[in-house]
Amino acid sequence: MSLMLQEEIVCNRELVTGIYQLTFRSAYVSQNAKPGQFVNIKCCEGFNAILRRPVSICSVDRENKNVTIVFQKRGTGTSYLAKKRAGDVLDLIGPLGSHFDLSENYKNIAVVGGGIGIFPLLFLLEQKQCVHKTAYIGFRSKNYVVLEEAFKHNSHELIISTDDGSLGQKGFITDLLEKRILEEGIKGEKYDIIYTCGPGPMMKKVVELASKAGIKCQVSLEQRMGCGIGACLACACKIKLRDDWQYKRVCKDGPIFWGEEVDFDD
Ligand SMILES: Cc1cc2nc3c(=O)[nH]c(=O)nc-3n(C[C@H](O)[C@H](O)[C@H](O)COP(=O)(O)OP(=O)(O)OC[C@H]3O[C@@H](n4cnc5c(N)ncnc54)[C@H](O)[C@@H]3O)c2cc1C
Ligand code: FES
Repeated sequence: MSLMLQEEIVCNRELVTGIYQLTFRSAYVSQNAKPGQFVNIKCCEGFNAILRRPVSICSVDRENKNVTIVFQKRGTGTSYLAKKRAGDVLDLIGPLGSHFDLSENYKNIAVVGGGIGIFPLLFLLEQKQCVHKTAYIGFRSKNYVVLEEAFKHNSHELIISTDDGSLGQKGFITDLLEKRILEEGIKGEKYDIIYTCGPGPMMKKVVELASKAGIKCQVSLEQRMGCGIGACLACACKIKLRDDWQYKRVCKDGPIFWGEEVDFDD
């Protein structure tokens, strides 16, 4: 169940230009949130406040009841959010949406994230207990790299790429995944599942690669939202159903879907 909450901000700081890490204290969200879920935040007052802004849960400290989100300053809402300070109140609804399938059967997992899509994957890595966790994270250049230490700490193997080669391996993160799962094989083993979040073309490629390698794959879709609770249909996405298709709501039916269900060309 999701609740409408007013929670105290513990800190809000800029990690790299335009990317902010905000921690708030919430007994309810910290105890109930599952990886892949998000909170819908009222960022500002008056006319600008009509629509809440969805932001994924990036990390949870259940002991201290703290929840961390990381967001990019893009427009009106996130610009207001960037100005919030410790002690301010955060007005949110959460936790919302579906969550990643964290079945115990998945012992060898990979996450593949691009840009601001990496944040829900960190929460997954924090929570998932399994034999081997590989994190693939890709950025445009070293100036956009965030949370490297947190990813290192929460995975057994971390692979970083930048488009321009300024940090980690040069190229798209999907090139490295392709090399690994189709050309080299992962030390004779296969990932049981790949979880991905990031730009649409990146996720489409991850789903194709996973399918070719016979690996399950879940994606996290980031659609523009209205109500965030399933009432307005603003967030509809096209989902394949055998020979047919239907529209589903990213806010309520998602944001997590099985890769092969999603029509990325819609
Ligand atoms: C389920 C979900 C989880 C998300 N998690 C995160 C997260 O962890 N960190 C993060 O930085 N962002 C996340 N987003 C995107 C975030 O919601 C948008 O960046 C934010 O709503 C922009 O609000 P704004 O008022 O600043 O921008 P607006 O003034 O509303 O728009 C400015 C620009 O931002 C872009 N934008 C707006 N909404 C979205 C959207 N939903 N998805 C992608 N781009 C958008 C568009 O290019 C738009 O032109 C998530 C979105 C969804 C749906
Ligand atoms: S945002 Fe209203 S139905 Fe999803």
